[in-house]
Amino acid sequence: MKFFRYASDMGDLRQALNEAAEIKRDRFKFRSLGENKTVLLIFFNNSLRTRLSTQKAALNLGMNVIVLDVNQGAWKLETERGVVMDGDKSEHLLEAVPVMAQYCDLIGVRTFARFESREADYTEQILNQFIRYSGRPVFSMESATVHPLQAFADLITIEEHKRSVRPKVVLTWAPHPKALPQAVPNSFAEWMRAADVDFVVTHPEGYELDPQFVGDARVEYDQMKAFENADFIYAKNWSCPGVTRSDDYGKIINTDRSWTVDADHMAVTRNAFFMHCLPVRRNMIVTDDVIEAPTSLVIPEAANREISATVVLKRMLEAL
Ligand code: CP
Repeated sequence: MKFFRYASDMGDLRQALNEAAEIKRDRFKFRSLGENKTVLLIFFNNSLRTRLSTQKAALNLGMNVIVLDVNQGAWKLETERGVVMDGDKSEHLLEAVPVMAQYCDLIGVRTFARFESREADYTEQILNQFIRYSGRPVFSMESATVHPLQAFADLITIEEHKRSVRPKVVLTWAPHPKALPQAVPNSFAEWMRAADVDFVVTHPEGYELDPQFVGDARVEYDQMKAFENADFIYAKNWSCPGVTRSDDYGKIINTDRSWTVDADHMAVTRNAFFMHCLPVRRNMIVTDDVIEAPTSLVIPEAANREISATVVLKRMLEAL
């Protein structure tokens, strides 16, 4: 695997899940694979889970790890070509990326949507500059529009906990005080469509996800109706994707707290498991009692980030 952004980069998901199970049984099984190999993890944004789980995955495989927080200690980077660099940005990504590539074999990039331009975000401008100018295999650690390491970990978690062959999985929008990217719901929708599940998305009008990710998935605007007989509830906030109203891209267009996942919502499900990628704002996205219930999978999900990252790094090492 040379690049990891989309479910299709993973190939057959059944095979990927088998590989994940194999690694979970013995996460050090492939530790000789990464000997004398270095992964560079570049963070343009904050992270707890991705930072720790990806480092742990690299260590499982015997790799060396370098972590760079671009906004703390590196030169401030310009990302637009053609800009007269007379401001506070001292280095251009077009030099910085090939330089960084000199010191590593694989590169992981965390860079959020900027909400300045839908086009810039949805063409993955920054991630693609790493792909184009590094000459190295590159994986997204959540980029402008996708979070594939999270979606793969979510799929592993569903596989481990499902009580029927084809469970009903509901992705629900929930309110949040700050505008958040669409990366997690985009990837979750994309991966659920590729998996063998009955997938339903529910959100207020105006929050329609980009068709390249949501495809022909069932969209239900009545949240309670969507929750009926669900086996898994996956809650997440996202800002307006700008699909139906492009001027609203990246904005908060609904603050309705009735969308917060609470015990009344969960009561109409089939004793569903609750999922969220974390970090989560309690009593905005989900109430304390739901996230603390025995059916909450937020910690196993986070634990599976180590497994998804180990599978991805292993495949990238095998392809070097
Ligand atoms: N879920 C997730 O990616 O968490 P972090 O932002 O803390 O890495």
